[in-house]
Amino acid sequence: MFALDNKSTVITGGGSGIGRAISVLFARQGASVTILELNESAAQNAVEEILAAGGKAQAFSCNVADQAQVKEVFAKIGKVDILINNAGIAHVGNLENTPEADFDKVFNVNVKGVYNCLSAAIPLMKANDGGVILNMASIASSVGLSDRFAYSMSKGAVLTMTFSVAKDYVKQNIRCNCISPARVHTPFVDGFIAKNYPDNQEEMFAKLSATQPIGRMAKPEEIANLALYLCSDEAGFITGSDYPIDGGFIKLNS
Ligand SMILES: NC(=O)c1ccc[n+]([C@@H]2O[C@H](COP(=O)([O-])OP(=O)(O)OC[C@H]3O[C@@H](n4cnc5c(N)ncnc54)[C@H](O)[C@@H]3O)[C@@H](O)[C@H]2O)c1
Repeated sequence: MFALDNKSTVITGGGSGIGRAISVLFARQGASVTILELNESAAQNAVEEILAAGGKAQAFSCNVADQAQVKEVFAKIGKVDILINNAGIAHVGNLENTPEADFDKVFNVNVKGVYNCLSAAIPLMKANDGGVILNMASIASSVGLSDRFAYSMSKGAVLTMTFSVAKDYVKQNIRCNCISPARVHTPFVDGFIAKNYPDNQEEMFAKLSATQPIGRMAKPEEIANLALYLCSDEAGFITGSDYPIDGGFIKLNS
């Protein structure tokens, strides 16, 4: 079960955290993994880990927010069976302390970056009689979180882009779903704690862990396992769905 033999899989942000765990797992299941990354050395490091384990992987330096770059890279890849729109950036702030430059940056990476990769991948999938798309949304797509104004806006758009693409391409044999994690322990979380709460990092880490009723953050590998199921042939009946993976955050927090 869950074999991905020779499936050409593109993973954005595959050099770190959740994207890296997905890259490693998909390669282990037989996929031919292509990582698109802003951070070239992190991407190269992930590729080396996969190659050392006998898997197939390559990386391209690419800013997903830049449509010209994205088009150029997808033209080189040529065939895409699976696209995982995972690259994203964090932002902490309410409406009043979200300057325009921050709003634009979050929008450009988290929303336009997904649009750019979808635009490049869909024609390739149509030419290939179908494909599978998985977008990395968030619990912030569906519930109100304090001080996540721009981030929530962006992840709400990822959720609705998922529905739109799933609907428009269902007859082309393209499945499109998203995953909505609560906190996952990755450099993304460590980075925003260090940046926004420099004086009480440990306290903040404990607080964020406790917001999941299960009492901890997820491990990136736990998100990768769900991604594998949703991108495998075993999930062939699933499209237009959002999968919370949240330690009980959405349903058990009252
Ligand atoms: N960690 C969490 O708690 C959590 C929770 C819910 C959703 N998510 C989402 O999961 C995704 C991955 O998060 P993570 O925690 O693994 O983050 P991470 O910061 O560990 O990894 C993200 C990777 O994306 C790359 N990246 C960032 N901007 C890019 C760009 N413009 N072009 C190409 N690559 C770019 C970074 O270089 C990095 O390697 C993000 O979309 C995030 O919003 C994370």
